[in-house]
Amino acid sequence: MIHNKTIVLTGASSGIGFQVLRLLSQSSDNKILAVSRHAEQLLKNFADNVIPFNMDISSKEGVDAVFEKANEVFEGKKIDLFYANAGFPYYEEFNYEDWDRVETMFKTNTFSPIYTYAKYIHHLDGRDGILAITVSAIGQMAMPGYAIYSSSKFATHGFQEAIRLEAPKNLQITCLYPVATDTNFFRVANPVSFEKPFPVQQPDVVARKMVAGIESGKKFVSPSPLFGLSKVLMGVCPPVRTVYWGLETAKLNRFKEKLRNMSKEDLEAAAQKIGKDIIEKSVEAVEKSKEAIEAALKK
Ligand SMILES: NC(=O)c1ccc[n+]([C@@H]2O[C@H](COP(=O)([O-])OP(=O)(O)OC[C@H]3O[C@@H](n4cnc5c(N)ncnc54)[C@H](OP(=O)(O)O)[C@@H]3O)[C@@H](O)[C@H]2O)c1
Repeated sequence: MIHNKTIVLTGASSGIGFQVLRLLSQSSDNKILAVSRHAEQLLKNFADNVIPFNMDISSKEGVDAVFEKANEVFEGKKIDLFYANAGFPYYEEFNYEDWDRVETMFKTNTFSPIYTYAKYIHHLDGRDGILAITVSAIGQMAMPGYAIYSSSKFATHGFQEAIRLEAPKNLQITCLYPVATDTNFFRVANPVSFEKPFPVQQPDVVARKMVAGIESGKKFVSPSPLFGLSKVLMGVCPPVRTVYWGLETAKLNRFKEKLRNMSKEDLEAAAQKIGKDIIEKSVEAVEKSKEAIEAALKK
């Protein structure tokens, strides 16, 4: 288990990041700066070694503020592990001209981990460190309905591939490539519910594999064995991919049909409900987790 480390984890309040936080916080000598836009609300009193910090990491200023806060709470000690996990999707038909909407996604999913890399290298200044990044299986194989998300993650995938060729030896880079994982991701992607891509994993399984991968110095963590297998299969026999994409495109077509049958009022109501739902689900997950940790400590 990773222990006695100073850790920054972004996207810590929900989903994969939250499950990673659970695991890392179990070693009481780890000190973790847990970052998200709602971390202080969701993670207050979660564990003594977790310091929640509300910050939007989608800008230079946001990432700079995370490093400043880490310097303060770790009392000038270096960050042993920086895990850039925060990210989000859109699930949609890409048929609009909206520069800002596209840019918003790239700022969080792509520019932020790239800028974090540069900042972390300077912070380490030759000392050992680990940069972990959550990329995505969709960053290696595009999917219908996820054009902007796919491209933001393909770019991050390209970055990690290129930067490994020039990164200093003192840096370990571990990248995670989850398939669909049952988190708030699918609530954020569109206020109207839709069918998830196949297969679906649970975030605690993904987090366990990622933490083990970081610990053992892996370059890549692919938590679903099916994804690795399908890449080989689709490489050898491309029609398999055509069939898979056909099935996923059918899901998008059903979603488009669903939208067409919804009134403007229904769509507005779904959009209004979404923020509340996400917070409620995150609070639920944190409460459940606290209970599990307390029960384990009592044994
Ligand atoms: N779930 C999947 O199917 C899947 C598959 C492949 C890859 N991924 C990737 O896995 C990572 C984690 O996603 P998840 O599935 O765990 O989704 P999630 O449950 O929605 O969690 C996302 C986390 O990121 C935070 N976040 C989002 N935007 C942020 C910003 N601008 N600044 C700071 N924090 C931000 C969210 O908290 P706040 O809202 O409080 O900021 C939340 O803590 C993402 O990079 C995602 O792209 C997910």
